[in-house]
Amino acid sequence: MEVTRIQISLFLCLLSCASSLGTRYTPDWASLDSRPIPDWYDDVKFGIFVHWGVFSVPAFGSEWFWWYWKGSQSPSYVQFMIKNYPPGFSYTDFAPQFHAQFFDPEEMADIFEASGAKYVVLTNKHHEGFTNWGSPYSWNWNSVDNGPHRDLVADLGAAIRKRSLHYGLYNSLYEWFNPIYLSDKQSGFKTRDYVEKKAMPELYELVNRYKPDLIWSDGDWEAPDTYWNSTGFLAWLYNDSPVKDVVVTNDRWGKGCYCKHGGYYNCADKFTPGELPNHKWEKCQAVDKISWGYRRNMKLSELMDLPSIIKDMVYVVALGGNYLLNVGPTSDGIIAPVFEERLRGVGAWLKVNGDAIYGTKPWRVQAENATVPVWYTSKSSTVYVIITSNPMQNSFTLSAPKTSSNTVVTLLGSPEPLKWAPLKTSGLIVLLPDLPFTPADAWTLKLDKVA
Ligand SMILES: *[C@@H]1O[C@H](CO)[C@@H](O)[C@H](O)[C@H]1NC(C)=O
Ligand SMILES: *[C@@H]1O[C@H](CO)[C@@H](O)[C@H](O)[C@H]1NC(C)=O
Repeated sequence: MEVTRIQISLFLCLLSCASSLGTRYTPDWASLDSRPIPDWYDDVKFGIFVHWGVFSVPAFGSEWFWWYWKGSQSPSYVQFMIKNYPPGFSYTDFAPQFHAQFFDPEEMADIFEASGAKYVVLTNKHHEGFTNWGSPYSWNWNSVDNGPHRDLVADLGAAIRKRSLHYGLYNSLYEWFNPIYLSDKQSGFKTRDYVEKKAMPELYELVNRYKPDLIWSDGDWEAPDTYWNSTGFLAWLYNDSPVKDVVVTNDRWGKGCYCKHGGYYNCADKFTPGELPNHKWEKCQAVDKISWGYRRNMKLSELMDLPSIIKDMVYVVALGGNYLLNVGPTSDGIIAPVFEERLRGVGAWLKVNGDAIYGTKPWRVQAENATVPVWYTSKSSTVYVIITSNPMQNSFTLSAPKTSSNTVVTLLGSPEPLKWAPLKTSGLIVLLPDLPFTPADAWTLKLDKVA
């Protein structure tokens, strides 16, 4: 008895204490890629992505404003500037207008919490290079010396963590117009001054100061991971950083890395696999289908409506992914009410249907064209069937689940078990009640004790 207990706790420790018992990762992909992704990440399933920066001031077109204006010189951006700003106005002149004067971190965190999200990822720095904290490596191109005169990373983080949500930071490795980066680029990335003087010292400082649970790396694609020294950074992050046991990372660590190396896979933006990937992944998707940053010229028809957000999230979770839904705050620090409405709508749906999402695993069958198309998720011998369009009839046929006489079928949100009968070969027919109205247009059947 005593021996068994010791053996069991030793065994459990071997499973969970591996990193504290001295699994050291070496700075190469074979070793780093072998690190298990901390469990919290797969369990939470749903997060909020927040793109906020100087681009929120012109709030026109997209968060790539500076690039489209001065880099590719896209006509609509060039015209917008000629029409609305005096000659000689530069992008850096927007920063003092980044006031965030209505930014109440508690209010913003309340909205994120009400969405049912379990993690929030804020842009610490987008490709424009402006940091939303007082980075000592940023000269005055940061939110403490300029613009809001406030540490946005710290302030939002404190409110997020107070609500027990996980806090992640998005970090762009490159900066479009940083002269040191451009000079490295000129050398074909043979010189590494930008990495050594700016990108890496800043990233280490960010991790030590804010202890993010997640690092969402981006802006890596022009240079190889050897230029960024990504493996050196990740080995430190996983072995010795203050977040070594909890931190989760993505896969954008250098040209050719994504979908191959790092933590979970983002692959390309809005990655949409057709079948179950064999590696943990995340789909990021913005409510505004055109832009990640807030833009004043958005139109209602360009936004995802609530049912399409729910459908997208359900599809992602059924295929083993996490769903990171983006909203861009305004430069004055507000989540636009139209975004707030979407987020609260997701939360209302999750309140009833969250059992089919949080802590689930993909099932042996992920989707079926039943009476209407459905997605499956599972938790041990419970299988959830998520219906994302109203079947408009009471008899509902599913062929994948294998029932037994102990099988119980319920509709989430309604206490009464539903009548059902097995089909001859495999599957069952369920007698649905009239489905309650939901603005999300999606319902969940819970099948207990099926195989
Ligand atoms: C890469 O990062 C590691 C860990 O911080 C460091 O020890 C190493 O010197 C770096 N290598 C280069 C080439 O910068
Ligand atoms: C359901 O039907 C659609 C349309 O014919 C098809 O594209 C899809 O692959 C089918 N899904 C499954 C799981 O069979």
